[in-house]
Amino acid sequence: MINQKVSIIGCGNIGISLLQGLLKEKTIPAQNITVTRRNIQELAYLSEYGVNMTSDNIAAVKETSLIIIAVKPYNIVSVLEELKEHLNVENQMIISVTAGITIRKIQEITGTGVPVFRAMPNIAASVGKSVTCISHNGAEPLYLESVRSLFDIVGTTMVIDEDLMESATILGACGIAYVLRFIRAMIQGGIQIGFDAATASAVVNQTVKGAAELLIQNGQHPEFEIDKVTTPKGCTIVGLNEMEHNGFSSSLIKGLVASFDKIEK
Ligand SMILES: NC(=O)c1ccc[n+]([C@@H]2O[C@H](COP(=O)([O-])OP(=O)(O)OC[C@H]3O[C@@H](n4cnc5c(N)ncnc54)[C@H](OP(=O)(O)O)[C@@H]3O)[C@@H](O)[C@H]2O)c1
Repeated sequence: MINQKVSIIGCGNIGISLLQGLLKEKTIPAQNITVTRRNIQELAYLSEYGVNMTSDNIAAVKETSLIIIAVKPYNIVSVLEELKEHLNVENQMIISVTAGITIRKIQEITGTGVPVFRAMPNIAASVGKSVTCISHNGAEPLYLESVRSLFDIVGTTMVIDEDLMESATILGACGIAYVLRFIRAMIQGGIQIGFDAATASAVVNQTVKGAAELLIQNGQHPEFEIDKVTTPKGCTIVGLNEMEHNGFSSSLIKGLVASFDKIEK
């Protein structure tokens, strides 16, 4: 991986998150990473890290083997059209993190036989804690390994069927926003019952991290752990039931499904 060169074409929110995670881990030297966007001056603050920056997408992919496309769906066709004549089937791979654009569509546009992957990371990549779902279309195991190794640097990875990529976008990428809103509500509640905002945030952040870690390490269903906290007739179950009477689980599920219905498929 250390010798692999990576380009991030369209370095906006998710591109920056990936870049920050890669720079933090240092598995790939900064000089092996090239990032692009049209308004390149917006990335000037990155110059101190030694990353290559350009608004020339063609120049950016010339020397790189892993080409991450991180533009919005409405920009991807023109970016691929621009790049297609300059791709090398021998030693390059395209990894699209763009939502809703299929591998087949990317292959049709590029028409080069360059291996194409889709990946769906989330913004926690910036702190090495993304979950990245990856899909492919019968790719060589060696290529898949390269792509997994890249995203393993910024968190955990799993390979899924392409027809689940939109679900992965909602659950993993949008999911961060749902969890953050939940955390915000917990903090607001914490302030109402007496904590200052900073202390409430510290307690809630660690509680959420602890809850996730419990499930990750013990591999149990959430309700198994909840049963340990809910004393019969106690305050936890009263609070939980009040939340459910007000549609807590239902509103989360409905929101998630509304996001899924909205995503272009
Ligand atoms: N944000 C997330 O949490 C997240 C997570 C997973 C996947 N995604 C997916 O990733 C894609 C990008 O999302 P985002 O939130 O990162 O959007 P974003 O912040 O708008 O980033 C896209 C970037 O692409 C650049 N760009 C547009 N046209 C370009 C071109 N022709 N050449 C080079 N760069 C170009 C834009 O900068 P200029 O205008 O300066 O060119 C912009 O910085 C979307 O498809 C989204 O679904 C996002």
